[in-house]
Amino acid sequence: MNAKNTDFGTFAQDVMLGLNSRPKTLPSKYFYDAKGDKLFQQIMALPEYYLTRKEYEILEEQQEQILAGILALGKPFNLVELGAGDGLKTKILLRYLVEKRVEFSYFPVDFSGSVLEELQQSLASELPELSVSPIQDTYSDSLKKQIWEDGKPNFVLFLGANLGNFGVKEAKNIINHLRVGTKRGDLVLIGFDLKKHPQTILDAYHDKQGITREFNLNLLDRINRELDADFDRDSFVHWPTYNPVSGECRSYLVSQKAQQVTVGALNQTFEFEAYESIFTEISKKYSLSEIHALASSGGFHVEESFMDSEGYFADVLWKRQ
Ligand code: AVJ
Repeated sequence: MNAKNTDFGTFAQDVMLGLNSRPKTLPSKYFYDAKGDKLFQQIMALPEYYLTRKEYEILEEQQEQILAGILALGKPFNLVELGAGDGLKTKILLRYLVEKRVEFSYFPVDFSGSVLEELQQSLASELPELSVSPIQDTYSDSLKKQIWEDGKPNFVLFLGANLGNFGVKEAKNIINHLRVGTKRGDLVLIGFDLKKHPQTILDAYHDKQGITREFNLNLLDRINRELDADFDRDSFVHWPTYNPVSGECRSYLVSQKAQQVTVGALNQTFEFEAYESIFTEISKKYSLSEIHALASSGGFHVEESFMDSEGYFADVLWKRQ
């Protein structure tokens, strides 16, 4: 596996850029170290965090229709998954395909090496006949390198509302990479968390047990651990917000006091004014019309939207034009 992106250099550089920006910001992809992966698994089991359960329901109940298009080709294909994580939801589709004796190779892409190793081990015992090639990389870089490209049709999974971690401009950029990384006729299944009652959304990012708070603060812990910094984590408040117009749920860490933080690996001290914030994550919620607009602006056609019974979440099947 390629360790390039977890390298000291890139993390340190991104932290330096983010903490020198005004307003201060840190990239959410760094949530996911071994501790962050565990916290995210706890988040997925929280009563307030409806996303994972809703998408699980969609895949469980509509797997046949979701896979009908790629199976109709009757050819071996590449199943590429961007942001595979623990694969809990993907295993629904994998089991179905293995049971149907469909010929395909699975390429899980994830930024977290620890989560990929776990996934590979669990698949080796649960579905030993499956061909698995893990790729540790970012979405864009994996799509640029296309190590799965060998003339077979591609079915790309981009589940879990992971695209929501990008703002509109960045999301369009990822979709462009998706277009370049696929061929005409290829299929992409993208998970979108849909706009809904603002309180329901806010609660999902502000759980009562404080697990999401820990998840957000783990970013500071990680900087302390890996970059020899001295963040006083408990002086920061976890503060999610939801804007019903843009659909953006944004999370912040707010410094409750004026303070200085030194990052040893950068040889730099950062000043925080009282109540200055660090913007740490965006989780964008979409309307169905926004999803259609995003697809067509990126050169894809919406084949079908698969939704849960409450209309909270959608896995939308796009075809590359
Ligand atoms: C993994 C990006 C889908 O944005 O809902 C969960 C991450 N952050 N709670 C999301 C997350 C806070 C999650 N995604």
